[in-house]
Amino acid sequence: MEELTREHKARLVAGASTWKTVSGGRDLPELLLADGPHGVRSQGAQGDSVGIGDSLPAVCFPPAVGLGSTWNPALLERVGNALGDEAARLGVNVLLGPGLNIKRSPLGGRNFEYFSEDPRLSGTLAAAMVRGIQARGVAATPKHFAANNQETDRMRVDVTVSERALREIYLPAFEQVVRDAGPWALMSAYNRVNGVFASENHWLLEEVLRDEWGFDGLVMSDWGAVDDPVAAVAAGLDLEMPPSGRHTRVLEALEEGHVDEAVLDSAIERLRRLAARTARPTAVDDRASAQAVALDAAREAVTLLENDGILPLAVEDHTRMLVVGEFARTPRFQGGGSSRVQPTRVLNALDALRERVAGTIAFEPGFTLSPGADTDLADAAVAAASDADVIIAFLGLPDHAESEGFDRTDLLLPADQLTLLERLRATGRPVVVVLSNGSVVDIASWRDGIAAIVEGWLLGQEGGRAIAEVLLGEVSPSGRLAESIPLRLEDNPSHLTFPGRDSQVVYGDDIFVGYRSYDTLGTQVAYAFGFGLSYTSFRYHDLQIVEIGRNRWAVRVRIRNTGSRAGSDVVQLYVAADGGEVRRPAHELRAFAKVKLAPGEEKPVEMEIGPRDLAFWNAQARRWQVEPGRYRIEVGASSRDIRLRGEIHSPGDGIIDPLRADSTLAEWERNPVSAKVLEQMRAGMPAGMAEKAPELLAMVRSTPVMKLTTWGLGLTEEIVQDVIRKANDALADGTTE
Ligand code: GLC
Repeated sequence: MEELTREHKARLVAGASTWKTVSGGRDLPELLLADGPHGVRSQGAQGDSVGIGDSLPAVCFPPAVGLGSTWNPALLERVGNALGDEAARLGVNVLLGPGLNIKRSPLGGRNFEYFSEDPRLSGTLAAAMVRGIQARGVAATPKHFAANNQETDRMRVDVTVSERALREIYLPAFEQVVRDAGPWALMSAYNRVNGVFASENHWLLEEVLRDEWGFDGLVMSDWGAVDDPVAAVAAGLDLEMPPSGRHTRVLEALEEGHVDEAVLDSAIERLRRLAARTARPTAVDDRASAQAVALDAAREAVTLLENDGILPLAVEDHTRMLVVGEFARTPRFQGGGSSRVQPTRVLNALDALRERVAGTIAFEPGFTLSPGADTDLADAAVAAASDADVIIAFLGLPDHAESEGFDRTDLLLPADQLTLLERLRATGRPVVVVLSNGSVVDIASWRDGIAAIVEGWLLGQEGGRAIAEVLLGEVSPSGRLAESIPLRLEDNPSHLTFPGRDSQVVYGDDIFVGYRSYDTLGTQVAYAFGFGLSYTSFRYHDLQIVEIGRNRWAVRVRIRNTGSRAGSDVVQLYVAADGGEVRRPAHELRAFAKVKLAPGEEKPVEMEIGPRDLAFWNAQARRWQVEPGRYRIEVGASSRDIRLRGEIHSPGDGIIDPLRADSTLAEWERNPVSAKVLEQMRAGMPAGMAEKAPELLAMVRSTPVMKLTTWGLGLTEEIVQDVIRKANDALADGTTE
């Protein structure tokens, strides 16, 4: 550090170019950064940050919307390994992914790049992926920290959100990744959080991320996110990307003592640590292996939503199958923007079906992927339907409908596709719909009379083959919804406040995001969080809940494949606080396990519940709190399909919070020292008042005790301050019994 001049230090905390850091001597070589979360988009040293220019070919895995639907951490770790291999092969030291932001609204333009509406599912999958990437000596970069849940006005919108919603919804996935996978880098978000840009937010970057969670990696900005580079460095941002040429302002601030040199030294130390950790990115498996992993991921992402029995397709030689929809020939397999990968190949479903089916398969595009209807194509498809035994309609959102950089305004499929589907259904032939979409689309308005609905999301370059294998039964679908599909957009809890305007958005839905709202309000949904069909069936039995420590339980259940086909199911564990004082969601996902079973096979599943799984964020005491009382344990195949129920009783966390000057009578009653003082006061009350005490107490329970000093109860400010001091001293020296 000593040989670095201040000028050099100020230069090091900004990049050298769009994708490179500045070299700072022998132990600080330049590092190559590259997107993205589901494939390497490497443009070498130059290039753009929004995916306009070409990048080197690399394997394109399913984007997070697909990976999230697998609910399979072990698979995600393999995807991480393969991504690390790809990055190492291309000389990339730092891979800019995974994306962890919560899908607050189904309209989010980058929902395809994020895992779920639920933080536990997001965090568990992302941690597995980070472990996989970093096992190859390549840094992962969980992003975008934090509360970057919309594209509208993303570079300056101020997200107003309660600390409880941050702690319980928008931060936990990042926290889980930091604590469980130790990412070597992390990217702060574009937006403001409660008035302060994320890349200049000391509370986020230092107090929460480093002091509380123990993050020891490097924090980089999103591209072009830094508003004030001096404020950013002071707040704990280590690297401005790309360089904005304003490092001279950092140097001036250093010279004038507005920024402590130690802050820069810490940033450079973290740059050095990142360089040391990524000094030797090492590919272990080859590209063919990466393609095989991408295929496995696509297979497990496919989510079956409806099936009247037509799937898997029984395709005898004489069966006349008609495939309709340009997506069957030209798959939409990833999303738009900075994550866009140049795939090594693209497998489409039409070819994959034709390779597997002896009979002829007719094809009609039915519509074009560019905006605007083409009635000739639709007419041709409907005409061809007249002599088909089964129609497979590949519908979905074309590229121009969703992307990084803008949000959608409705959930509808393109009108021309809906019209075409109506006409196909009117032929009376069975119709199977296969969807390609990065974010939720409305299904309820057109699903009646459709024989089967396969939600394919976006499946990466190998997805066309995976879809064919599921349709033909070579693979049993095992995807589960990582995001609820509402009956109507208006049912979504964020609807009234998304995406805000005038650079302001208020998260009025607070902690009630996705199923946390639907299940609490009892709102009907089209398909529930955690839902997905299989080609077989599963029975859960033998629930056992065993206490294994203070506020720790093992939850054991047995699952059996009761059908005639192999398949995988995702056993989901939800916890519901019962009767506590605090408003909580109806239940919350706390653990899950994906289980593969042969027909008739049965396996035990064990999941654990710990204190954090019972806790809520007490915003006043600014801590996680476990209330004593009863908690319901729900084991289910989705948030709406609870198969087994049990309960646990928690003693609570036993923590007594310090009294504050504005502590209420209720809070005094919960503190042993002040409760005793209240007892003495009641004993000393004039008889008449004591009788009236109950309703009086009910009235004043939520009143700060300090306010009662003006009620002529003989309670003075000095007494109140004295009690508070005694109570807190007793807490501090542990004599509070
Ligand atoms: C983009 C994205 C970020 C990406 C970066 C570099 O704007 O927000 O996810 O990694 O810039 O392309």
